[in-house]
Amino acid sequence: MQYLESDPVRLDEDRENIIVIDQRALPEKLVFLKLNKAEEMYDAIKTLAVRGAPCIGVFAGYCIAILAKSVSGSFNEFRNKMAEYAGYLESARPTAVNLSWALNRQMKLIASMEKDKTDSIREALMEEAVRIHEEDIGLCLSISEYGLSLLHDGDGILTHCNAGALATTRYGTGLGPILLGTKRGMRFHVYSDETRPLLQGIRLSSYELAMAGVDETVICDNMAGLVMKQGRIDAVLVGCDRIAANGDVANKIGTCTVAILAKYYGIPFYVLGPYSTIDTDCASGDDIKIEERGSEEISSLWYERDFSVKGVKYYNPAFDVTDHSLITAIITDKGILRPPFEKAIKEIRGAKK
Ligand code: MRU
Repeated sequence: MQYLESDPVRLDEDRENIIVIDQRALPEKLVFLKLNKAEEMYDAIKTLAVRGAPCIGVFAGYCIAILAKSVSGSFNEFRNKMAEYAGYLESARPTAVNLSWALNRQMKLIASMEKDKTDSIREALMEEAVRIHEEDIGLCLSISEYGLSLLHDGDGILTHCNAGALATTRYGTGLGPILLGTKRGMRFHVYSDETRPLLQGIRLSSYELAMAGVDETVICDNMAGLVMKQGRIDAVLVGCDRIAANGDVANKIGTCTVAILAKYYGIPFYVLGPYSTIDTDCASGDDIKIEERGSEEISSLWYERDFSVKGVKYYNPAFDVTDHSLITAIITDKGILRPPFEKAIKEIRGAKK
């Protein structure tokens, strides 16, 4: 099932740099970047060289571990500088909760080591980063198993954006059950929305599915309704960037439209994500901050010439929120959550609030 040459995020042998697959260059070229400076890390997140909620979380864990190597001074000086780095990285993208989740996890670790030497804190941060990475692999496997239990041989599946191995650190969430089932000899036909404006579907999902030998068809985003009406889709599988306490889910822009279509046509709509994507500090989707990106992503980025008409406005929200009433089940590493989601989420989170 590990069909990519490398996890999209990993350490180099000396543990001095983070090696990432530059997802901006795919599928044309497989380019690796070597990063060790805060500005490079920020830029990698901001410009989507590293992308996908779980993958950003793993990357953030490593960023803190690598940046800590060049910070010295008293415990307070060390902690303050690391907090500054964490705040800077967190500001790169607001919607995927895994970014702040991993940064907070590292900052809590620092706070708990006030009595330790800086060298020991640095070592602990590195171990924690590796743990976050290894955990992610296990979480994805578990999500894939639960997800697969809902699928049948021969199913037609629609997916949106990319929630595969590139968006996690291995296997994926939304694509995980498809890849796991394929490895076990099951056959699916996957329809991949191209996912405007950044084309994660046609560039990344279709690349991953092709490498795994999955039968796939890429469609434009506005074709989902037709393929559903034609009876080609048995289930929709998508990833998620943040799950609110009531089960509302933020994911790539266009997800909500697909969910509404699925409801209309009576097709199960499954959201797949790890526990780290659940944010009970958000009571509902209204509390989730939606990232807005530049207009050039719509008007010119993937075109040979700029189509923009002077003076015309563009609105480019990178995510939308799917209301919990449209979701059939949320598939986590801890099991399959069914409505009412508020109760189901409380149960797996141990009723935090
Ligand atoms: O802007 P992106 O490409 O980072 O958005 C990615 C998504 O919306 C994914 O569906 C989500 O992060 C889940 S990835 C397992």
